[in-house]
Amino acid sequence: MCGIIGYVGKAEAAERLIEGLSALEYRGYDSAGISVFTKESKLLTLKAEGRLANVAAKVEACAETRGVHCGIGHTRWATHGAPSDRNSHPHGTELLQLVHNGIIENYADIKEELLNKGKTFLSDTDTEVLAVLLSENYAQMGDKLGAIKKTLSAVTGSYGIAIAFADDSTHLYCARSGSPLIVGVGEGENYVASDITALLRHTRKYYQLREGDIAVVSEDAVVITDKNGDPADLPLETADWDVQAAERGGYPHFMIKEINEESETVKKTLNTRIKNGLPDFEAEGLDINMFKDLERVHIVACGTAMYAGCVGKCRFESYARMPAHVEVASEFRYAPPLFGKGDLVIIISQSGETADSLAALRLAKECGAHTLAIVNVIGSSIAREADNVLYTWAGPEISVCSTKAYTVQAALITLLAAAAGVARGTVTEEEAARIASCLHDELPLAIEKIINNADPIKAAAKALHTTQSMFFIGRGSDTYLASEGSLKLKEITYTHSEAYAAGELKHGTISLIEQGTPVVSIANDPRMYEKMLSNIREVKARGAMIIAVCAKDAEDIIKVADHWLEVPALRSDIAGIAAATSLQLLAYYLADDRGLDVDKPRNLAKSVTVE
Ligand code: F6R
Repeated sequence: MCGIIGYVGKAEAAERLIEGLSALEYRGYDSAGISVFTKESKLLTLKAEGRLANVAAKVEACAETRGVHCGIGHTRWATHGAPSDRNSHPHGTELLQLVHNGIIENYADIKEELLNKGKTFLSDTDTEVLAVLLSENYAQMGDKLGAIKKTLSAVTGSYGIAIAFADDSTHLYCARSGSPLIVGVGEGENYVASDITALLRHTRKYYQLREGDIAVVSEDAVVITDKNGDPADLPLETADWDVQAAERGGYPHFMIKEINEESETVKKTLNTRIKNGLPDFEAEGLDINMFKDLERVHIVACGTAMYAGCVGKCRFESYARMPAHVEVASEFRYAPPLFGKGDLVIIISQSGETADSLAALRLAKECGAHTLAIVNVIGSSIAREADNVLYTWAGPEISVCSTKAYTVQAALITLLAAAAGVARGTVTEEEAARIASCLHDELPLAIEKIINNADPIKAAAKALHTTQSMFFIGRGSDTYLASEGSLKLKEITYTHSEAYAAGELKHGTISLIEQGTPVVSIANDPRMYEKMLSNIREVKARGAMIIAVCAKDAEDIIKVADHWLEVPALRSDIAGIAAATSLQLLAYYLADDRGLDVDKPRNLAKSVTVE
C-alpha cells in the first residue's frame, strides 16, 4: 500500500525522502513523488508513474532540489484513478502540498461541492479533494491546525496524511485516522513515516500516532495533540528492528532472505512460550483456562495469515477437541455476527494494519467476544486494540509475499492449541511437551534441511518454466497448505493455479488435467497416504506431471512422481509447516527463473489498508 515519508532537519531533504521511499517500496506502489521547499522557500513538486527511480532521476536532474531541508514524499498504490504522473502524490494547491494513505469515502460529494464553488482539479484522486478542501479552509481561517481539524471532521474514511504548507518551510503537519503514521525522532531532525522501516538508517525512536492525533513536526520539536485537542502523552518508542534486518544482507531478494530466517524466527517466537518443556502463555497475560469453557474458536484473517489460521483450526480441533472456524476477514465483517460474549475471536496479521482484519476485530469486540491477536508488527493497530496479543517475532517482513510470517504464525498457533488442549484435558502434559519440543527443536532443523537441499525444488521450478496453469492437491490439513502454496505461486509467478482437496478433483475439475499439467501433490499425513496415492494415480493416468511433497517413507507416491520435494521426517501434525517452506521456495525459484520482480509482484501491496 501507499507509503509516506516527511523530513525536516539539516540534511539534504530530497535525498532523505528518496531514501525513505526506497525503504518503503516493499509495501507495493505504482507511482511516487516528493515536494520540497527550495532555497527560496517555494514548494517544488516532482512526481512520476512507475518505479521510484523515475522520480529519483527527476530529482537528480533538478538543481533546485539540492540544499533544501524540508519536504514530504509518497509511494502510491492506485485506488482512485489509474497509476499516472498526474494521479501521483503529493497533491495540492498554491497554499499546500499533501500526501495521503487511505481512502476518503465521501470524496465525490465534497468534490462536487468544490466544483460548484469553481475549484478545479488536476487528478482523479480522492486525495486531491482533501488537499483542495484543506486549502479552502486554510484560506478562510488562516489557522493551520484549525483548518486541518475542520477538514478532517468533514471527511469519512481513513487517512494518514502529511502536509507541507507553502508559507511555512520549517514545519510539517500530519494526522492519522485508520491508516498508521509515526513521527520519527532524530538528532536535530525529525521525520514522518507510514512505518519505521523508512527511518531505520537514521533513527529507531518514534511516536506512534493514535487515532485522531495531529502532530506538528519541526527540526527540533514534535508537538502532538489528541482528537480533543489536548496534548497527547505518547510514549517515545524504540524499534528493535535494525537496518540489517530491514536490508537484504547479501541475498538477491528479500523473499529468499526471509525464507532463510524461518528457522531462527520460529525458535525466537517459541522460546519464551515454552517453560519447563510445556507451552506457557502466562507471562503474556493470556489466561489459558479460558479455553476450558469455550465452545468454539473463530479465527479471522486475510490471505496467507488466514491459511496460517487454517493450521490453527486443524490443531484446535485435533488437540483441544473444539470446533474452530476460519473466516476471511472481509466476509466475517458482513456476515450475521453469530458470536458474542463467551466466544474467542483470534485475529492473525503480520502487519497488524490490514483494514478488514482490523474491522473484524472491532466488530468482535463490539459483540462482546474476547479477542486475541497474533501479530508481527509491534504497536500496530490490531496489536493495540485486541484484548490479548501474542507477538510473532519474525522481524520485518519486507518482501510483499509473506513467508516467515506464515511459518511463525502457524508454529505459534499450533503451540497455543496444544496449551488449550492441556487446559481442556484433551492433551496430556507429556504430549504437549512432545509437540512443544518438535515445534521448537525439530521444525527449525527440518526447515534448514529443506533450504540447504533445494536442488530438487530448483529442478521442479525449471520444469514449470513455461507452465501457465497448474494444481495443488492435498487431504486434511494439507488441503489448506495446498491453498497457501497455490497463493504463493500465483502471487509472484503470475501462474494460474487452483488448490483442491485431492478427493474432490474427480467431481469436475479433473477434466482440466491433460498431458503435462503440473499437479503439486502434498502428502504429509501417513493416514492419508493410500487415499492420496489413488488421487495422484487418477491425475497421473490423465497425463499430469506430479510434483510430490512428502517424506521419504511415502515410497509409492515418490515412485509415481516426476519430481519429489522431500519433507524431512517430522510428526505429521507439524510436517506441513516445514512443507510450506518447500512451496515458498518452489514459487521463489520459478519467479526468479522467469526474471520476475520477486519482492514486488505486480498489483500487490504489502500492507492492505483499504477494504
Ligand atoms: C500473501 C500475503 C497476503 C497477506 C494478507 C494479510 O503472501 O502476503 O495474503 O498475508 O494480505 O496481511 P497481514 O498478515 O498483514 O494481515
